[in-house]
Amino acid sequence: MKTTSSIISLKNVFKEYLLGDGSVFLALKNINLEIHQGEFSAIIGPSGSGKSTLMHMVGLLDKPSRGEIIVNGKDISGLDDNQTSTLRNSYVGFVFQQFNLLNKLTIKENILLPATYSRIKPDFDAEERAEMLMEKFGILSKKDSFPNRISGGQQQRVAVARALIMKPQLVLADEPTGNLDHKTGNEIIDLFEQLNTNEGITIVMVTHEMEIAERTRRQIRVLDGEITSDKKR
Ligand SMILES: Nc1ncnc2c1ncn2[C@@H]1O[C@H](COP(=O)(O)OP(=O)(O)OP(=O)(O)O)[C@@H](O)[C@H]1O
Ligand SMILES: [Mg+2]
Repeated sequence: MKTTSSIISLKNVFKEYLLGDGSVFLALKNINLEIHQGEFSAIIGPSGSGKSTLMHMVGLLDKPSRGEIIVNGKDISGLDDNQTSTLRNSYVGFVFQQFNLLNKLTIKENILLPATYSRIKPDFDAEERAEMLMEKFGILSKKDSFPNRISGGQQQRVAVARALIMKPQLVLADEPTGNLDHKTGNEIIDLFEQLNTNEGITIVMVTHEMEIAERTRRQIRVLDGEITSDKKR
């Protein structure tokens, strides 16, 4: 696959929030952004600048107030909620700062959750894939443990495995190292780097930390709802 093919493109995207006093707050202003197959990008910027809002647009978790979102060449504005969530399920996997694992489910069940809830049955053996991912991420011995019985770094590796279970085109991570110590955080970025370099997995990661952002190949800077720079190396 060519590394230049576009996965998602945001064109003149605005996001408005209606505030309690009736005024309108512009959280995203005229965003133009294209994510290509094989990229490893960081979205950086101060707190409140719109990083998570932008990630929600790219992850189809929220709709723009104005502007277009094109996924694999198709404008998705006409899709209803069911169609959007079906597309989202196969197109993107999420990793969050708080891991967001279900404590009542085992590690393996957590990883399998997106496959369990998928409207479309995956055309591969999800259990086998879960085992493969757990083995690769060094958590296979924990497969029957519960999330609150394993370390933060291990929990985040479970979350990365869960994000990858449906073979998504894109992995989105919002402050994936935010709840981890320096060393463990860097180990999660090592994992992202390997997934990107060895398997061509496309990753977009939100981070506050310059040191983490510098390990990616593209840095998209957001300030007051606008992209103020977009550096590739
Ligand atoms: N549902 C909402 N209603 C109103 N305003 C919102 C809503 N969600 C976000 N905002 C506002 O939009 C702006 C951008 O929020 P966003 O969460 O994207 O920031 P962020 O860059 O991710 O910040 P942080 O680094 O603290 O996570 C902020 O000013 C925030 O208060
Ligand atoms: Mg945020």
